[in-house]
This record gives sequence, C-alpha cells and structure tokens, in this order.
Amino acid sequence: MYKSTQVVDITGLRRPPSMPFQRLDNRIVLTHPKGASAELLLFGATIISWKAGSQANPEPTERLFLSLKAFLDGSKPVRGGIPVVFPCFGPPTHPEHSRLAQHGFARSETWEFDSVVTDNADSVSVRLTLGPTPSITAKYNRSFHLAYVVTLEEHRLSTDLHVTNTSTSPDNLEFQALFHNYILAPADQILVRPLQNIMYYDKTETTEEGRNNAKVESRSGVDVHKYTDSVYEGAPQEYEVTWSGGGLRIQTSELKDVVIWNPQKKAGSKMADMEDGGWERFVCVEPGYVRGFTNVGAGNTWVGRQVLSVM
Ligand code: BG6
Repeated sequence: MYKSTQVVDITGLRRPPSMPFQRLDNRIVLTHPKGASAELLLFGATIISWKAGSQANPEPTERLFLSLKAFLDGSKPVRGGIPVVFPCFGPPTHPEHSRLAQHGFARSETWEFDSVVTDNADSVSVRLTLGPTPSITAKYNRSFHLAYVVTLEEHRLSTDLHVTNTSTSPDNLEFQALFHNYILAPADQILVRPLQNIMYYDKTETTEEGRNNAKVESRSGVDVHKYTDSVYEGAPQEYEVTWSGGGLRIQTSELKDVVIWNPQKKAGSKMADMEDGGWERFVCVEPGYVRGFTNVGAGNTWVGRQVLSVM
C-alpha cells in the first residue's frame, strides 16, 4: 500500500481509508477520490477494469469488457481490458520479429512495478517497466526499454507507452505498437466516428489479394453488425464510440492507425477464452502504429499515447 488517508464522516465514525494506490500480489488498483478506479495486471501490463461515471451519471460503472473465460494467471494474453501490443501487430512481418507470437511479447510478459508518478486530487498514475529478460532476448535480440504510464482521472483513463532504444550502436529500432481496447458496449449499436473517406484494409477478406486491397470507408459512422477486422491507415487520431445512452472519446498521439475489431459468432465462438456471446458486449477500437513500422534512434524514446474519456 502506497498511501492511506483517513476520512472522518459527519457521524464522527471513521470510514475505511481511501487508498489511491494499492499494490496487490499480481496487480495494481488505482482509486480516484471521486470514485473512479482502474485495475492493472503486472502480466502484460493489462488494464482489466476501468470504472468511471459520466457527467450525467456520476455512479462509476465498468467501461471495459473482460471475458468471463479470460486467463488472468499469466498462461495466455488476457481476452479483454487493454492488452499492450508491441513490437508487432498481428503475425510478425519484420525479420527481427520472426520468432515472436501474434501481437508480440509485451502482452504476455510480467512487467515490473516502477513508481507512482502522480497522486493528487485530480489524478493518480503509476509506471510499469519491461526490459530484455533472457526469455525475451531468446526471441527478440534488441536493446530496448518499455515504460507504461497509466493515469486515472475522474472521467478519464490515459495510457502512455514509452519505447526507448537503449542500443549504443546507431541502428534504429523498428516496431509497431497498439492499445487493444475492449470497450464494453452493445456491439449491435456502436458507431465509431469519424472514419469516413479513410483508407482501410479488411482482414476478413478471404484472399491475400483481398486483404491487401485498400478500401475507402464510405460510412459516416462505422458499425460492427458483421464480422469486422479493419485496419484504418492514416486515421484522424481522435474518435468517438457511441451507443444508446453511452459513449467514449479516444484521443491519441503518435498512433496514426486504428483497428476496429469484432469477431461476431463466426470467429468469437472459436476462441477458447471468449465467454458465450461475449462478442455482443464489446467493440475493440485499437489505436496504433501498425501499417508499416515506426522507429526510434539509439538513445531516444518514442511515446505513443491515448486518452479515453467518458462522454
Ligand atoms: C485484432 C486483430 O487486433 O486482434 C485481429 O486485428 C485479431 O485480427 C484480434 O483476431 C485478436 O487477436 P488475439 O491474438 O488476441 O486473439
């Protein structure tokens, strides 16, 4: 436990201490003085819960989908919450990533708790880190350091991924990165805007030629009424995801692409860790740098950021 504040209520009875930051066995719990909370597993630095109220309804409610069948014991990447994708998105295509699994290793390694970054009336944030371990080096032999800063405010959650190239040789570190947000929402209602006229690649196409063929989004609001796995390239970096009675705004920086994914029954029922009908309760809106590779020079740090706000 980092800090505890004793609160005396008007009846003079001591209420349980408010703990902005709790470090439990395998996870960290952040609690905002106004009631919002977030839970972060050290495994994969995966945020598995974010509860926040809206301006209209201040009662903190869950904003992220987490499958009832998700593995939280480190045996498999978490099906839900916000897994961190690094250094490759999807199956590896870069020669340096050839021994990595789909979506890279960041989501399936245990990160270190580093520090509490802020703890004040407005926000509480923590920093986790991941560097080369023998098991990572065995499959990815590059010098790097990752830091992940998660910040909780009353109506907002921010995630910042810092990628440092710690090499002493002049080689750039080339990578992809993405925040795999599972947004808890009725999938048959959600609309994502504004993606109209943005070029995208449709990974549900059955041929390689079809998947590599750029399409242009014609819809003013993108729905997921059918199996959807679309990679929008050069997207606006600011999105609204809305449904009847709810919505989230996503603002990003250094993440030029966005993936919209919903497996529907077709792909969802094949996943051992997806709860029955789970695909009806979320949409993944995943800001990232995933078309091509971004890079960072030796001794430098790249920062990719998203801010999720309750509308
Ligand atoms: C999305 C990809 O980001 O993640 C999909 O675009 C993929 O193609 C989905 O199926 C889930 O991936 P995983 O590895 O967590 O099952």
